[in-house]
Amino acid sequence: MRIAVPAESDEERRVALTPQAVRRMIDDGHVVVVQEGLGERSSFPDDAYRDAGAEVASDVFPDADVILVVGPPSPTQAADYPEGVTLVGFLDPFASTDLVRTLTDRRVTAFAVEAIPRTTLAQGMDALSSQASAAGYHAVLLAATETPRIFPMMITAAGTIPPVKLLVLGAGVAGLQAIATAKRLGAVVSAYDVRPQVREQIESLGAKFIAAPVDESAASSSGYAKELTDETQRRQQDALAGFVADADVVITTAQVPGGAAPLLISREMVEGMRPGSIIVDVAAPTGGNCELTRPGENVRHGGVVVMGPTDLASRVAIDASEMYAKNLGAFLARVADEEGNVQHDFDDQIVSEACITHDGSVTHPVTRRVLGLEPRQ
Ligand code: NAI
Repeated sequence: MRIAVPAESDEERRVALTPQAVRRMIDDGHVVVVQEGLGERSSFPDDAYRDAGAEVASDVFPDADVILVVGPPSPTQAADYPEGVTLVGFLDPFASTDLVRTLTDRRVTAFAVEAIPRTTLAQGMDALSSQASAAGYHAVLLAATETPRIFPMMITAAGTIPPVKLLVLGAGVAGLQAIATAKRLGAVVSAYDVRPQVREQIESLGAKFIAAPVDESAASSSGYAKELTDETQRRQQDALAGFVADADVVITTAQVPGGAAPLLISREMVEGMRPGSIIVDVAAPTGGNCELTRPGENVRHGGVVVMGPTDLASRVAIDASEMYAKNLGAFLARVADEEGNVQHDFDDQIVSEACITHDGSVTHPVTRRVLGLEPRQ
């Protein structure tokens, strides 16, 4: 198939295919065309793509069978897509009725990688996890450069510097990576998650598990966290307040599938922290775990800095792109037949759950509901 990779928005440094990934696609018999300058911001020059066997063009859409992106296209960009093309990427479908309508008008088969189920079978395609790992790692580095403290213990002729006390709230993919990174930098790490079953993983990374007493029902029977009631959330904040106040750095990554980020740190809790303390709110893109978080900004409140980065994976664009491109390759292998043509096997759970639009209809029930679109005829 002919795979097109258009340029991303100005804010996005990652690319959907790296030169290494292009080589793999070409080895699999596909043709790849990338837009001029695609990898400029992620240190992949056009010549690296050419050397890998890609065509480099100013317009990548003519005759494309598949378009691969990192972030969602604008509706104007999608209006230029060839009719019936297959699109794969982080499409953020709830954010734009215009985009979803344009995709249906163009009869695009659109797969949102964020809707791929996080199952064992789909692990190789799990772009949410690969990008969350990059984000959890980089969040700790941000904290390390922002904090006026030194992470590891230092024994010097001028005295002994104690290690930074770092607290991770939410120990899923990003949180566990943050724990591992902070441990490598020499911090004393503790972590909390509403799901008691992650205790073992936290402890295996050498961190202390905080058993803040919260209603057991907060972890759903599926093993995922559930949204908490206001009362449970308040009790959770009370239970965590002392630990937050004692930390030099707090990394928050809590999220509930499909919901807004739970509020774990109130304004009062921030006011209870020592001056010089840092919060990095990894959950900023979905609203944040701290009441003072402003997505995309650093907020100074008293002596505490609350960072709300929304581009953590993009800041480590080379490796985040390599992982993402591998995820896309695994997904394409799943939807392609033996001749390499895209098949839409909606009996396949991964294909059906990731599909947002197909053949002029919105196939994704939640997208239809959130955008208030008519059910499929
Ligand atoms: P995940 O689902 O693997 O982990 C989230 C964890 O939060 C789970 O372990 C869950 O049990 C826990 N949790 C839920 N409610 C909780 C509560 N009330 N108290 C304590 N823990 C709670 O999610 P993943 O993949 O680690 O992603 C985490 C966040 O990172 C997401 O919000 C995602 O949007 C964000 N992210 C941010 C980026 C950025 O640039 N800032 C880049 C990539 C991801």
